Amino acid sequence: MAAITEIIKKRFSCRTYADKPIDEETLKKLKEIINSLPAGPFGGKPRITLVNAASTSPQEWKKLGTYGVIKNARLFVVGAIKDTANAMEDYGYCKELLVLRATQLGLGTCWLGGTFSSGSFAKAINLQEGESLPTVAPIGYPAQKKALAEKMMRGVAGSDKRKPWSELFFADNFSTPLTPKQAGIYAEALENIRIAPSAANKQPWRVLYDTKRNVFHFFLARTFSYKLMGMGALQDIDLGIAMSHFELTAHEQGISGKWQISVNAPKTSSLDYIVSWLSS
Ligand SMILES: Cc1cc2nc3c(=O)[nH]c(=O)nc-3n(C[C@H](O)[C@H](O)[C@H](O)COP(=O)(O)O)c2cc1C
Repeated sequence: MAAITEIIKKRFSCRTYADKPIDEETLKKLKEIINSLPAGPFGGKPRITLVNAASTSPQEWKKLGTYGVIKNARLFVVGAIKDTANAMEDYGYCKELLVLRATQLGLGTCWLGGTFSSGSFAKAINLQEGESLPTVAPIGYPAQKKALAEKMMRGVAGSDKRKPWSELFFADNFSTPLTPKQAGIYAEALENIRIAPSAANKQPWRVLYDTKRNVFHFFLARTFSYKLMGMGALQDIDLGIAMSHFELTAHEQGISGKWQISVNAPKTSSLDYIVSWLSS
């Protein structure tokens, strides 16, 4: 098993934090990680700042949609990004790199999606015109014991469940499920998409493997109610997260490739095509 797989497996949405601050040394490392984050595959890069929970208003907590569910958070990772094409994929990709590095440091995090265009998070990051602030994430040491509210939340979202391969990954056309055996050296990279976090655990990513050209086409099966509520961007973030898991795993296994928007990607009415990964 690749080392990155262990970190990806270790990550979970932490909603109950230990009631203690992050120690100096770890905080220093966390800041270094934030400062050295690369840009995403589409060229966008989130601007990230750490915000003290004490400076966050009760109204802001309500906006998180998880009022009462996140316990003892002292620090938040707040990230804004310029509104360019595929900015949300870049956002998911870059911020997940940070989440995984934080997991490696023994820290817990939880993606929280919402609209934070006004309020203390927006003020703390000095949100500019033409920028979005689509998520924030508490960060800290996970508590030994999960609070009851967290356990209930995990139950409602079915957080420990994931869709089977047959619903997510396909070979050459959408009527042929891709098996791990057929995926061969790419099986672990795909499995690490399957266990990725996603908003409300919707797991909207779909991947079509062109077995002859060795190309992976990434699509979104968008949730209709998300579109209606103006929360569609969260699923683009989900896709960016999936891209990071796929690429990190492939790279660690010595498999190289590049992201490209392909004009030859198969068309399908029920899915939104986003990007392809071309093996090289
Ligand atoms: C973009 C995004 C937004 C999310 N928003 C919330 C949120 O507002 N509140 C919350 O409690 N969890 C949120 N989550 C966490 C998901 O519910 C969680 O990833 C999913 O249930 C799977 O559980 P796991 O992360 O523990 O594997 C979000 C996750 C993502 C990727």
